[in-house]
Amino acid sequence: MSQRIRIFDTTLRDGEQSPGCSMGPAQKLVMARALAELGVDVIETGFPASSQADRESTDQIARDVGKSVTLATLSRCAEADITACAKAMEHAHKPRIHVFISTSPLHRQFKLGLSREQVLERAVSAVSFAKRYFDDIEFSAEDAIRTEFDFLTEIFAATAAAGAQTLNVPDTVGYTTPDEIRSLFQRLRAAVPGEHLIWSTHCHNDLGLAVANSLAAIEGGARQVECTVNGIGERAGNCAVEELAMVLRVRQAYYEADTGIHSERLVPTSRLLQRLTGMMVQRNKAVVGVNAFAHEAGIHQHGMLKHRETYEIMRPEDVGWPKSELVLGRHSGRAAVSERLRALGFVFEEGEFEHVFNNFKDLTESQRVVTDKDLEELILGSSAVAGQGYRLASMKLGDLGGKARADVELSDPEGNRVTGEAESDGPVAALFEAMAAATGVSLQLESYQVHSIGMGEHARGEASLSVLFEEEELTGIGVSRDIIEASALAWLDVANRVLRRRVAGA
Ligand code: KIV
Ligand code: ZN
Repeated sequence: MSQRIRIFDTTLRDGEQSPGCSMGPAQKLVMARALAELGVDVIETGFPASSQADRESTDQIARDVGKSVTLATLSRCAEADITACAKAMEHAHKPRIHVFISTSPLHRQFKLGLSREQVLERAVSAVSFAKRYFDDIEFSAEDAIRTEFDFLTEIFAATAAAGAQTLNVPDTVGYTTPDEIRSLFQRLRAAVPGEHLIWSTHCHNDLGLAVANSLAAIEGGARQVECTVNGIGERAGNCAVEELAMVLRVRQAYYEADTGIHSERLVPTSRLLQRLTGMMVQRNKAVVGVNAFAHEAGIHQHGMLKHRETYEIMRPEDVGWPKSELVLGRHSGRAAVSERLRALGFVFEEGEFEHVFNNFKDLTESQRVVTDKDLEELILGSSAVAGQGYRLASMKLGDLGGKARADVELSDPEGNRVTGEAESDGPVAALFEAMAAATGVSLQLESYQVHSIGMGEHARGEASLSVLFEEEELTGIGVSRDIIEASALAWLDVANRVLRRRVAGA
């Protein structure tokens, strides 16, 4: 009999708190809908005590997708954190609180300055206090992997007795190995009995073992896996949901376990997250990278033509890769546009879709074909999702013989026209300087790349650039038929992220 593994998705909490992945409430809501559609069992929406933005996004998600899926929020062992979670989740139908405290000797001494007894006491009283507000409680022993086994069993037994039903064993620093974690789960389950308890694994990827360790934890008896889309998360990230779900699907006979993930939603959800955060996955990333199903070598192509399974262990369409990129235009109807938007990860209610469809129609007035990138820009570029920011109105480049000159006109967050001009050695440098003059934002570029998407008459240039802002890397993306315009859009994308950060931090 196949075991049902619960997927606890922490893209919007552990993932979102990592460098380059931050999202505002409107963006988190778009992503939460996609996660619900993907079929995850639990969505961790954030850490309400940490910021107003996390409280706001949790509340919005609870009102919007809170009926269909369990929502969790993170809390330290502090009454104020617990009441912040309760308030933010007032409208959730299936709320869960996720209470955590560090348990390892290193964390007890250097992070908390608490003894074993004090940590135990705080954990138990927090779970008991949380019981006043929540029926569904998860307790995490942060840095569990480096915690003494006897203390780990003691704190799990005590928090379970106080009311926690899910016990999470995080490998906070990505240190464990598959054999080690399999055996740890077996020993913990034997030492802390309780048929009703759900044992959960939360593996970080510092040594590239997050997925392998999560699978080994399942073999040891874990029935919940904490994952993120594209494996985003602190430092090297968390267990990637697309990889874990597909291992369990493709090797179901071996693991005798499966998830509730709708695998054909994996690529659309991954792509949506890349667009929302600006953090692109590597081309050869398993399942969701653009090369994951590309066959270049002649000998492989020959094998594929004879029999697909010579080189493919899963079908691209089963994980949501489209057969071909559909081009929409003036004559495309609601059904075609709606289906295309779903393939890009978007989930709309009926009234909202009408609004998007009208914008699509407007776009077809000015351009003959509307590609996937145009559709993404139509929705994610709208101020409702991207937030207020500068928009490109027009740009002009001139060659001064040995020097380039750029003139730009932008609309500012209040809708006023602002202009900037600059001369420099090359057109892109002049353009960036002109935009810096228009916005008053000066960016120190860490990287700048342009590559082509698609081929032939529909080919587009995608520019991506990153900057360091308060020690955090922020990435911007722009797409256009004209690579200079794509560069301008990428520059504005990142400048707007910097401005939103400044406003949030003010
Ligand atoms: O990595 C970790 O230990 C965490 C906990 C808060 C669960 O993210
Ligand atoms: Zn974590």
